[in-house]
Amino acid sequence: MLQELLIVTDNPGKKREYRALLASLPVPIRFPSDLGYRIDVQEEGTTYVENAALKARAGVQVSGLLSMADDSGLEVDALGGAPGVHSAYYVPGSDADRIAALLARLDGIPWEARTARFRCVIAIATPEGKLYTAEGTCEGVIATAPAGTGGFGYDPVFYLPEWGCTMAQLPPEVKNRISHRARAVEAALPILQDLLEHGTTRRSTEARG
Ligand code: IMP
Repeated sequence: MLQELLIVTDNPGKKREYRALLASLPVPIRFPSDLGYRIDVQEEGTTYVENAALKARAGVQVSGLLSMADDSGLEVDALGGAPGVHSAYYVPGSDADRIAALLARLDGIPWEARTARFRCVIAIATPEGKLYTAEGTCEGVIATAPAGTGGFGYDPVFYLPEWGCTMAQLPPEVKNRISHRARAVEAALPILQDLLEHGTTRRSTEARG
């Protein structure tokens, strides 16, 4: 049985969510900073799968541990799917700067045309060189002004019609039930459990990435 799982991220928002989302795993999870590693990956892929795979494989290379990473983003239909894989770097500066830029680009766009989704692709890389992926999405609408202080990134403008509030206004345990990351983890958990317990899995999401 493998002893630990490396989650390749330094994003404080993602770290907080993974601590809760992976609490049922039979081994402790570690982040690069816990183990004294700095894993700087140029996210030069053109897809979430490529970028998630780059990060997960870098984790194995540096640590030798079973490693997992996500690449995620916000896809706004009225902007042709932007910012998408470029969500973290949409404009330089802070999350608040990126939200301001997004709202400016959607100025005048009516509510019914402000549909969007968060997408999360998880890649799991094994020390033996195998790669598995899992994906989750969450549908919403881009609000006209930010609201709420929870979560991170674009959460304050991601409005969930069925909840009547933004992702940043949801209690963390609710975000961790319905989010794109929660859904990707749900799909990844059986793979992780097989790999941690048996070192292998027969599940069919092995990818080339
Ligand atoms: P990356 O996966 O490190 O490339 O960064 C993903 C970027 O997408 C983050 O920096 C956020 O801007 C955005 N993002 C991803 N997941 C979430 C989320 O759960 N809430 C809000 N924004 C998110």
